[in-house]
Amino acid sequence: MTAVGIDAIEIWTGKLKLDLPETFAPVKDEDPEKYTKGLGLYASSFPDSYEDIVTMGANAAHRLMERKGLTPDDIGRIDVATESAFDNSKPVSTYIAGCLEQVYDGDFHHANKGERKFACIAGTQSLDDAYNWIKAGRNRGRSALVIATDTALYARGDPGEATQGAGAVAMLISEDPSIVELSTEQGYGSADETDFLKPNQQFPSVDGKRSMQVYLARMREALEDFERAGGETHPGDYVFGPYHTPFPGMVRKAGLFAFRHTIRDTDIEEELAAEIGRQPREDDYDDREAFEEAIRGYMDDLKATDQYQEWYANTIDPTLRISREVGNWYTGSVHIARASALQYAAENDMEMTGKKLLVGSYGSGAQAEIHAETVQEGWEEELDQLSIDEQIRNRHDLTYEEYEQVHDRHNHDKRVELEDFTEPENEFVFVGRGDMDERTYEYVE
Ligand code: COA
Repeated sequence: MTAVGIDAIEIWTGKLKLDLPETFAPVKDEDPEKYTKGLGLYASSFPDSYEDIVTMGANAAHRLMERKGLTPDDIGRIDVATESAFDNSKPVSTYIAGCLEQVYDGDFHHANKGERKFACIAGTQSLDDAYNWIKAGRNRGRSALVIATDTALYARGDPGEATQGAGAVAMLISEDPSIVELSTEQGYGSADETDFLKPNQQFPSVDGKRSMQVYLARMREALEDFERAGGETHPGDYVFGPYHTPFPGMVRKAGLFAFRHTIRDTDIEEELAAEIGRQPREDDYDDREAFEEAIRGYMDDLKATDQYQEWYANTIDPTLRISREVGNWYTGSVHIARASALQYAAENDMEMTGKKLLVGSYGSGAQAEIHAETVQEGWEEELDQLSIDEQIRNRHDLTYEEYEQVHDRHNHDKRVELEDFTEPENEFVFVGRGDMDERTYEYVE
């Protein structure tokens, strides 16, 4: 069976930065550690005036195509995952293809284009679509371009305002991939939930605390489904666990739940039993309340063990390095978590070929998906080409007043003009609107 998976990745961050402990916390009159320690976030990325979901996605895709020496003929699908779309009919992928056609000879007329929507999980669903298309033998030797692009803005004053972010991840899905092969086994946890939604509005209606509970509940269902599908979940089987990262503090919670679940009935649970006892089993309790209290006690003890702390430091913490600096990228978040972990592995000369990742995606509304990925031989060379650290360093550091202007500039209802903070170079930029209110783009040298 031919391996199918991610052959190349490019990441593009919005060029502006809001420093959360230094700039945001003082104005909100809050302790900076709420952000750095509580949410686990240091900064959010924002798009400059000439940037949006199309430019960020097109710029990531362009860089990917250039680096891999691809032409439009090599691409048979362009799927864009986003929850920041500005049009209910015309997909963002057509805009991105239009941008790319400005700089390539040839066109994408024979590429199937679409737009996937299911909150933050849509990026992973687009990977699935590409995987299935190739596995079905419909790709005629071509690859798929999957682009997860979002500007995650919340209404000013919403608790979610601290977790904003903007950026795009472009991924090339091919046969015999260079970075990871996706597993056939996958598990789903999906239910009709009202935790976060945008009923024809730009800024989300969100029940933040509820969304955190739903994240955990659906992830657990997906993990059980993955196990039913034959997937392995022993912590020793996986080097990294990239999860959807709305903010690192969410993943810290998810990590503890995942560890508890996956050590049950394993050698690790037995080893820990002398120190903290075995995990409470529901059958041993008369009522649910008593069982839940026992679980909470076990979780507190588990969190303090060396085994858990070591697992978290090695398996989960390396996935959060980019996210801490850029905030929530919605559909792209789980994909920057994977890249962050592999970058860490490259920096630490870890031998990764053949090793596995357990990837957990989530989208509000709500659905979680779990699958495994096997790292392929060319991973290190691919990861070495990423420029995200440099991009993060080069962002313009906004004052609070500038942040307010930028938020207004990207508010679809306001149409505010604002001077650029940075100078575009060799990239696609937003230039205005046409007669039918379509957005127009140019490539600037
Ligand atoms: N030092 C250390 N930690 C601190 C702190 C301080 N000075 N002040 C607060 N914290 C901790 C809190 O204890 C909390 O951690 P905990 O949940 O482990 O207890 C964390 O920082 C956040 O503080 P909280 O008061 O809960 O923040 P909030 O009420 O402003 O809202 C969210 C947090 C996540 C609900 C909000 O940002 C949100 O709505 N986000 C959007 C929705 C989202 O991303 N959902 C995730 C699932 S997709």
